[in-house]
Amino acid sequence: MEKVKVGLLGAAFSAELHIDGYLRCQELSRVVAVCDRNLELARDFARRYNIPYVFGDADELFALGEIDVIDICLPNFLHCEMAEKAFSAGKHVISEKPLATSVEEAERMVAAAQKAHKQLYYAEDWLFAPALLRAQELINQGAIGKPLFIKAKESHSGSHSPFAKKLRFCGGGAMIHLGVHPVGFLVALKGTPTAVVAMTTGGGAGNFVHQDMEGEDWAAALLRFADGTTAIAEANYITLGGMNDIIEFYGTEGRLHIDLTMSSPITAYSRVGFDYAVEKAETTIGWTKPAVDERLMLGYIGEIRHFMSCLQQDKPAMKGLRGEDGLEVLKVIEAIYRSAREGRQITL
Ligand SMILES: NC(=O)c1ccc[n+]([C@@H]2O[C@H](COP(=O)([O-])OP(=O)(O)OC[C@H]3O[C@@H](n4cnc5c(N)ncnc54)[C@H](O)[C@@H]3O)[C@@H](O)[C@H]2O)c1
Repeated sequence: MEKVKVGLLGAAFSAELHIDGYLRCQELSRVVAVCDRNLELARDFARRYNIPYVFGDADELFALGEIDVIDICLPNFLHCEMAEKAFSAGKHVISEKPLATSVEEAERMVAAAQKAHKQLYYAEDWLFAPALLRAQELINQGAIGKPLFIKAKESHSGSHSPFAKKLRFCGGGAMIHLGVHPVGFLVALKGTPTAVVAMTTGGGAGNFVHQDMEGEDWAAALLRFADGTTAIAEANYITLGGMNDIIEFYGTEGRLHIDLTMSSPITAYSRVGFDYAVEKAETTIGWTKPAVDERLMLGYIGEIRHFMSCLQQDKPAMKGLRGEDGLEVLKVIEAIYRSAREGRQITL
């Protein structure tokens, strides 16, 4: 079996998440090149992970004939442009979330993939979080009876990325950046909601905490699905103490509570601190819950393995992880923003 040859576009935060996935499925793939306009960062990344080609310009990466797939780990506003270029160069594409900054861009990406007869994969890691996979097994066995209501959220204290502050770079605030996970999970599970009602903070001076951020720092949406199920999707940048990803299912015969980030089997107390507890935690001093294999638990490892095994057979990813799923998620997020802006329910 030929290994899939990967070109990693970006050498920062999300590229570090993905490389761990590639390192754990070396029988399927090999990262042969990395590119970041910050060449020093790209060189350091290549050295640490033994990647043969390093570039500072994406066009050089696209020109490398041996690459099968470009994995876009760049700020949101570059996903569409880079995907279109990659398809023109005859490559498959993996795009980090959100698929793009707007429905219009996402539609262009899906169309470009179809035109080039190449795969477009949408990297929604929650779909491979082991706890959520297990929760779905329990639900499918009837453990909670008929599901009625789902609550899902991602929140932390603010993005590490300078690009997250500007609407033109990311397309919104907490909802498009963090809420994209709960919304992506819900859409994969239940399909596109039929109706949405939402509220957000106003961005800038209208934010709770992050006045230097153009997008909102708090957002919540009520969703109704075709089967009558309801949900709340929540996202915010006002949560201190580490990333907080909680998913709850309520059914006629029971309920499930899933904590993706703060449910480590380790409870630590340290007077002096240590290297790392959990994503976005401000401190490791005092009582903490140090993550055990955070990248596996959040789904990055399973997601990359899935993409690589699908590429081996040149087939689409599973539902929720295809380009068209990323597009559908953006339609819901645009409806959420519209509902918050106009103060009314939006039907889809
Ligand atoms: N799935 C997740 O949980 C998750 C987590 C974090 C980020 N992300 C997504 O990953 C993407 C990247 O986020 P990040 O946090 O890694 O961003 P980042 O700001 O940490 O890094 C972005 C990198 O892109 C490089 N870059 C910018 N413009 C470039 C260009 N034209 N050519 C080459 N390199 C360029 C920068 O130099 C920087 O190193 C975003 O879409 C984000 O939403 C997903």
